[in-house]
Amino acid sequence: MPESAPHGSADGDLAPVLARLEDVSKNFGSRRVLKGISFELRKGEILGFLGPNGAGKTTAMRILTGYFPPSQGRVWIGEQDLFREPQKLKRRIGYLPESVTLYGEMRVCEFVEFAAQVKGLAGIKKRREVEEKLTRCGLWDVKHRLIGRLSKGFRQRIGIAQALIGDPEILVLDEPSNGLDPKQIMEIRGLIRELAQDRTLILSSHILPEVSALCDRVLIINKGSVIASGTADELESGLRERHELVITLGPPADKAGVFRLLENVPGLERISIETAREGLVTVVVGIEKGRDVRAELSRLFVTQNLPLLEMRSGRLSLEEIFMKLVLEENEDASQREDA
Ligand SMILES: Nc1ncnc2c1ncn2[C@@H]1O[C@H](COP(=O)(O)OP(=O)(O)O)[C@@H](O)[C@H]1O
Ligand SMILES: [Mg+2]
Repeated sequence: MPESAPHGSADGDLAPVLARLEDVSKNFGSRRVLKGISFELRKGEILGFLGPNGAGKTTAMRILTGYFPPSQGRVWIGEQDLFREPQKLKRRIGYLPESVTLYGEMRVCEFVEFAAQVKGLAGIKKRREVEEKLTRCGLWDVKHRLIGRLSKGFRQRIGIAQALIGDPEILVLDEPSNGLDPKQIMEIRGLIRELAQDRTLILSSHILPEVSALCDRVLIINKGSVIASGTADELESGLRERHELVITLGPPADKAGVFRLLENVPGLERISIETAREGLVTVVVGIEKGRDVRAELSRLFVTQNLPLLEMRSGRLSLEEIFMKLVLEENEDASQREDA
């Protein structure tokens, strides 16, 4: 079973816990889309939610922001139960939803003012707040433009400006860079990093580079469960240890013979054999964590008189490893449904 501990080994210097989901489940009808997830958000960190589409990221974020309650489990904001005092506690959380409903006919400043009004601000306080957020999010120069005329990058900034109204200590950003072009992604990342200097953030993404670029700690979520967690570094080095070797042998190597030979080598996890052109046999083997079998394999091929033409590390990109992790998890779950 994969680990499902809410956090890795980041217990060294303990910043206070600002929010905590405790064994939270969510059912929609008979579908269970969150299956008892627990994690905590510590002051000052950027926590990443990583998982494929449909994993449950948005659902978890909606619960954390008080949008709807969990079916089971509890949500703590500091020492208080979010759903006991939602009005008061929701003010401590700013939320950029997955798809922000923006009014295209509104001007940028009108929309941000409207958001400030909804959060109970008025008069000079409201004006100051709106000005500050427009400036902070790089919207000052477009404040009189119609929202409908602006690029997706700007619209995302407007969503962030709206979330920042009232200076909530926790900011929840659901796929903040989804749908942006590379330049806009870099800009939004810059903004997120700035915001993180005096705030605690949780953001979701379905792509790994996004969270590894921004987050101090990552939870990998799949099918409503946390399947791995840790700092971006821990996660990366842990995942990196999973590796493959790609080996090419020349004639007289044959598929069946090579398979029989490798079958008995300890430390190999998966063996897949392909016949390449001109009688070459290419083998991809998965190597057990922490093992190095290269010397042993080359000796083995020599003793069998099989010419070893190539042996290279089939290092996967982090993104590939992440996808593998998710796929393996899904295979485990539906092993018997498959033909
Ligand atoms: N309001 C809803 N009613 C029914 N099913 C929902 C609802 N919201 C989400 N789901 C389902 O829950 C699962 C998780 O969705 P979501 O939290 O949006 O995942 P993610 O944000 O990781 O893509 C999906 O299968 C989705 O179809
Ligand atoms: Mg989502």
